[in-house]
Amino acid sequence: MSRIVFLNGSFLPIEEARVPFMDRGFLFGDGVYEGIGVLDGRLVDNEAHLERLERSLAEVRIPNPYSPAEWTALEEEIVRRNGMTEGFIYFQVTRGVAERDFFFPEDAKPTVAMFTQAKTIADAPAARTGIAVVTVPDLRWARRDVKSINLLAQVLAKQAAKEAGAQEAWMVEDGYVTEGGSSSAFIVTTGGSIVVRPLSQAILPGITRKSLLRLSQEDGIPLEERRFTVEEAHGAAEAFLTSASNFVLPVVSIDGRPVGEGKPGPITRRLRELYLQMARAPASLAAE
Ligand code: PDD
Repeated sequence: MSRIVFLNGSFLPIEEARVPFMDRGFLFGDGVYEGIGVLDGRLVDNEAHLERLERSLAEVRIPNPYSPAEWTALEEEIVRRNGMTEGFIYFQVTRGVAERDFFFPEDAKPTVAMFTQAKTIADAPAARTGIAVVTVPDLRWARRDVKSINLLAQVLAKQAAKEAGAQEAWMVEDGYVTEGGSSSAFIVTTGGSIVVRPLSQAILPGITRKSLLRLSQEDGIPLEERRFTVEEAHGAAEAFLTSASNFVLPVVSIDGRPVGEGKPGPITRRLRELYLQMARAPASLAAE
C-alpha cells in the first residue's frame, strides 16, 4: 500500500502529491510546521501542538487554514488511512504559491501538507541504551520559539553530530546549552534536580518538555528552570532529551564523556515511564 499524504484538501498517494515550483516554502522557507507523536493509534499531546501551531502561524502572519477540530480530524484521518499505530505526524503550512518576491503575496492561499512516518517509539532500542550527543555552536536565527520550516542550522548541527558518532547535537550559545537539534535538552544534578532552560525566544517551547515538567512536578521531582553550561552538562548525574518523536530519551554521553555512570539513570527512566503512561491514557480519552 502506498503511503497516503494530505495536500491542500485531498488525501492522495505520496507519488501523486505535487507542490508547485513557486511555493514560498520551497523558495524562502516561508512557513511553519508541527510534529506530533502517535502511540496506540492515538495522538499524543495534540491540543498543545495545535496551540503552538496557532502561535507560530500568528507570529509569521500566515492565516491558520483550519480550526483545531478540523486539524484533529485530518490527523486522525491520515493515521487511519495509513493504518499507523505508532509514529509521527508531520504537517506544515507555507504562505502559498506566488511569483518570487519577498513581500507577502496579495492573494496566495496557504499550502498545507501532512504526512505520517511509522516509527517504534515506546520500545525504541535507543531508550534502553541511551544516546550520545555532541555540543555544537547554535547558528540559528533569533526567533527559535517559532517552529519555522527553516532548519538548515539544525541539519548542519545534526550532521556534525552524526559524523562525530553521536545521535543528537546540543546547540550552545554563550557557553550555555540552548536545546537539541530537534529536541529539548535536560540534565539531572547530582542532587537529583532536573535542570531545563526556561522558555524564551532562544528555544522552541517543546510540547513534550511542557508535559514532562508537569509530570515531574506531580511526581515530586525537584525542578530548576535555568540555563546550564556545557561544563555543567559534562558533570551531570544524568541527561536526557524530549521530543514528540522520541518522548524521553536518555543521553549517556556528551562530547565523548560518559554522563554519570554512562547508562540511563533512574530519574530519566522514571520520567520516560511516566510520559509513556500519560501518552497511553490521555486525559481526553480518560474523560470519555
Ligand atoms: N522537533 N527543540 C527543537 C529545535 C525541535 O525541533 C523540537 C521538535 C523540540 C521538541 O519539541 P516537541 O516536544 O514539541 O516535539 C525542541 C521535531 C520532533 C522535529 O523537528 O522532528
